[in-house]
Amino acid sequence: MLRKLRRLELPPPRVLVFTLATFAAFLLLEGYLIARHGFRLPPPGLNWFDLLFWAALVFWSVGVRIRLPLNASMSHLFLFALALVVLAPPWLAPLWVFLFQPGDKAWYKQLFNRSQDALAALAAALVWGFFQSNPLHLGSLDLSAGAGIGLAAVALFFVNTGLVTLIIHLASGTPLREVWKKNFGWLAASYFLLSPLALLLARAYAMPLLGGWGGWTVLLFLIPLYYSRFYWDEKVRLEQAFDATLEVLMHALEAKEPETRMHSERVADIAADLARAYYKDEAKAMEIYRAARLHDIGKIGIPEALLLKPDKLTPREYQIVQSHTTKGVELLKPAEKVAFGPVVYNVILYHHERWDGRGYPKRLAGHEIPEEARIVGLADAYEAMTAGRPYRKAKSSEEALQEVQDLSGIQFDPRLVELFTELWHQNPLWRDRQAYLEAKEGSVLRSTLPQPYSVSDSPSPSEQDPRTSGE
Ligand SMILES: [Fe+2]
Ligand SMILES: [Fe+2]
Repeated sequence: MLRKLRRLELPPPRVLVFTLATFAAFLLLEGYLIARHGFRLPPPGLNWFDLLFWAALVFWSVGVRIRLPLNASMSHLFLFALALVVLAPPWLAPLWVFLFQPGDKAWYKQLFNRSQDALAALAAALVWGFFQSNPLHLGSLDLSAGAGIGLAAVALFFVNTGLVTLIIHLASGTPLREVWKKNFGWLAASYFLLSPLALLLARAYAMPLLGGWGGWTVLLFLIPLYYSRFYWDEKVRLEQAFDATLEVLMHALEAKEPETRMHSERVADIAADLARAYYKDEAKAMEIYRAARLHDIGKIGIPEALLLKPDKLTPREYQIVQSHTTKGVELLKPAEKVAFGPVVYNVILYHHERWDGRGYPKRLAGHEIPEEARIVGLADAYEAMTAGRPYRKAKSSEEALQEVQDLSGIQFDPRLVELFTELWHQNPLWRDRQAYLEAKEGSVLRSTLPQPYSVSDSPSPSEQDPRTSGE
């Protein structure tokens, strides 16, 4: 009974509406294509066996899926859909893609995945059809097939990833740009570059090279295709490994200085907001968020006795604690270029530099200090002021803001202080330390993997699992 009820479970209304709209768009456009080109099964030039063979390929390719970072996944469906576009009348590829998919998910997820895959195939069919009826010639060279398949792939890619990006955004609240960039930005080129393979599959099927049946050649192509997916699997795994490594490092530091996780989290949230306001670039903000989480990682190399010392440090001890900047860079040196870019190293090394040049370790001043380090430095200082130490009382949010403003042009970049003040008045979650601690208590402290989003509204990963028909 319970299981039955769960099967009827509905997604959030906006996700449901979007799913139904996608389905309706598919029905409408498919109806239009059928009305225009006439419905006949099997269509001219193909027999029932051909139809079954391609249905099996579509079905198989959807089953062999590769997970993408933000709750999406992709498959080789893209190639078979494009090959079908070339082989059959335009209404067939969308219909086959809609019909022949394994049905292992909640009904609305299935409906969305099928509809969006079909709409993407439909867009590709329209582009391909356009080039077939308006041939493109360059001198004596007929470019219709080449241009047609390339642009059909582009159309398929954008409809496909656009719709999936939108639904992930609707379901999880993750910013559109973030979803697209993280999941699909890197796929665009490979769709375009692999599209000739779809043309080749279609042509090889139509003109048998082996054993009198084109299917043999297509099946032979599947072998390298099947193995190429391990490359994509690896790429996704690598990203996850990177996030996990970051978390392991934080655990190592946390074991030494328990306060440090909350400190790093809050610094990262403040820095990400500042970076977002400064660059108006979500990807850049996320890069700084990650770097900020690691800013004090060098403290792993500082004796606990100093980190946890209840009294004020002697000048010599202070010097040792200051070396956490250079120690952090040394610690992460082996990962340079492989896992971490310059932003991470700049943040770790320069987050204690001051605008007036009296900071450490290099005594850089003003614009000599990398922007990302100025941003994290300000966030770090505000968080430290409001946190307090055994020998120093914590400041209230208002007192800390006042101090940040007083130190504008002395310790901090004046432009950043302005932005910080604006953000502070918008009352973000991080402004008040106690409120922040309470809000984070449930979510972040218990999480074992990093949440790439700055605030505690973690999207529920089980909600959506849309897929894209990738290569
Ligand atoms: Fe630090
Ligand atoms: Fe810090």
